Order: sequence, then C-alpha cells, then structure tokens
Amino acid sequence: MYGIIMAMKILGIETSCDETAAAVVENGTVILSNVVVSQIDIFAEYGGVIPEVAARSHLEAIMPVINKALDDASCTWEDIDAIAVTHAPGLLGSLLIGTLTARTLAILHNKPLYAVHHLKSHVYANWLRGDSFAPEFPLLALVISGGHTQILYMRGHNQFEIVGTTHDDAVGECFDKIAKILGLPYPGGPSISKAALKGNPNKYRLPHPKVEGLDFSFSGLKTAVLRAVQKEVNVPISYPSHKLKELLSAEQVNDFAASFQKTAINILCEKLAAAKEEYPDIQSVVIAGGVSANKALRDALPDAFFPNVSLSGDNGAMVAAACFFEIESGVKPTDPYALNIYPRVSIEN
Ligand code: KG4
Ligand code: ZN
Repeated sequence: MYGIIMAMKILGIETSCDETAAAVVENGTVILSNVVVSQIDIFAEYGGVIPEVAARSHLEAIMPVINKALDDASCTWEDIDAIAVTHAPGLLGSLLIGTLTARTLAILHNKPLYAVHHLKSHVYANWLRGDSFAPEFPLLALVISGGHTQILYMRGHNQFEIVGTTHDDAVGECFDKIAKILGLPYPGGPSISKAALKGNPNKYRLPHPKVEGLDFSFSGLKTAVLRAVQKEVNVPISYPSHKLKELLSAEQVNDFAASFQKTAINILCEKLAAAKEEYPDIQSVVIAGGVSANKALRDALPDAFFPNVSLSGDNGAMVAAACFFEIESGVKPTDPYALNIYPRVSIEN
C-alpha cells in the first residue's frame, strides 16, 4: 500500500537476549543496513548469558548501534517512516533497554512506534531474501531458537497459529546444554555443528522422545546424552556433570556431537513431516530462529525456506520486516508513552 507512493523505511531494534541490533529495511524485504553487536565473547567466559550483564551491555551499545544502522543506510531521521522494536518475549532487562530507547526515539523524532513479537521477527527473516521467491501461504513455520521450539501454521501475513510446541527445553537450549557437558564453547549450536563434522553420527544410539502429535520434548534427549557420556567414561550417575569433559577424548566429543545433532535433526524433520501431512494445503515451509543456521539441518530440508545464515540469529532487520507486514495487515502503531514489555507472552496473543 505504500509502494506506489514511496518506499517505506523502517528502523528495526532488537535487544531481547544477548545481541544489540538495529537495521533499516525498505518495504519489509530490502536490507539497507544491518548492525549486530554480539555479546558472545563476554558470555563464552561464563558458559551462558547473565541477564544483568546483558542489560548493561545493551545500554552501552544501543545508541552507537542505532546511529551506525542509520549511517550505513545513508539515512537521517527524516528518512525513517517508523520504528519497530522487540517487546516480547525475552530477558526482562534486555527488552527494557530496547523498548525504552525506541519509545524515547519515537517521541523525540515524532515517528510511529510498533511493538513486534520476537518469534514473528524470526519468521519474517525469510522475507529478507534479496530475490523474488517469497514463501507462499498457507505455510508452516518451524521456529527453533534458544528459547522456543514451535510449529506455526500461517494462513496469511501476521496470522500465527501454534500447532506444535515443546513440553520442556527448546532445541537450541538442548544444543547449548549438551555442548556444556562435552566441554564445547558457548553458544553450543555452532560449536556442536563444527565438532559434528569430524564425528561419527551413528556411534551412539540416542532415543527419540515419545510425544503425541506435533509437540516436542528435548529434556529427555539431553539426559540421554548425559547418561551415555557417563557410561562411556565409566563413572556413576552421581559424578559431577561439569567434570565429565575432562574424561572425554576429542574423538568421543566429536562422536557425541555428531550423534546428538543427527538425532535432534531427525526429531525436527519427523515432526515437520507429520505437520505437512496434517496440513496438506500448505504451499511453503519456512525455518526460523538461531538453530536454522545449522548446516546439517539445511541439508536435510532442501525444499524449505531458510533465512540467509547471517539472519538466522537475532538481528534488527527481521524486526523491521515483521513490522512492515504487520502494517500491511492493518496493525496500528502503539502509544510510545505506554509500550510495555512481555518477557513470556505467546505469539498467538
Ligand atoms: O534465535 P536465537 O539467536 O536466540 C533466541 O531467540 O533464542 O537462537 C539462539 C540459539 C542458541 O541456542 C544457539 O546455540 C542456536 O540458536 N544456534 C545453533 C546454531 N547457531 C545457533 N544451533 C544449531 N546449529 C547452529 N549452527
Ligand atoms: Zn531469537
């Protein structure tokens, strides 16, 4: 609806976890700039995110990141048509820094402000393709991140129905926890997939959880890996899990990484296949969230849409893209004086 008049430029801001990110996107599909400052180096030392440290780092980085996003896009505030910010779900302190900054900027520069759900943003990373092959509706979206594992049915833009979800851990969380057991660095996903390249995926047999319908469970798989490691190095189950890595050889680590990755991918692919059977009208399958960067998963699903690897993780461009399609489907701006954060709210709300 804006296309005929002019291109709509949206500034997207994302601070829900440990990436401080901002981007300028035109018409929900063309990236003019995309700046991501990751706190991975800080949290690699601790083996995980510390919420208070994340919030403080966002506070330090947010304005330089936004200014660089505007500069890289050769934009001034005059050129920006709207501001989009992640307001849910995520870490409370992290969400607060992004939303308070966006609220202030919206008031200061008199721009409409839109609040975007983080999982919607991940899904819309699939529209930032730089080619003309956009996913078609109705579609199934498999959202796989550090905090979520869900299958969504989308009848059209901005219409999300959860048709499958995890009963416990998210798949990304499972990668992270197993990496910790194996002594691989944080974040676990990339380091497991790297180790898996050198390992034998058939070395250790790991169970598939028995979960009804399109739902998932990953905590049992994590425990199964833990027990298999304990058995492999001949220690009782009471042995401290943080010390197991000292007893594993590099070969064993690689084999566990490969065996776990293969099992996790099989579980995701099986559920996706079941979902396709249940929803035979779908035209596309899109994969979204940090775990969508996984190369072996990409190889296992050659017909699915995946975001560009650089857009699999958290970024501001996907927030701006989601916002554009929300506006197109009639969503109105939010009150910059009242915008709230919702650390745990579902995508269906
Ligand atoms: O979407 P994301 O960046 O943040 C959340 O919204 O949670 O997802 C982060 C998750 C982490 O658990 C990380 O280990 C996982 O995505 N991840 C991967 C890969 N790259 C990141 N998991 C498997 N393979 C990867 N290559
Ligand atoms: Zn995310």
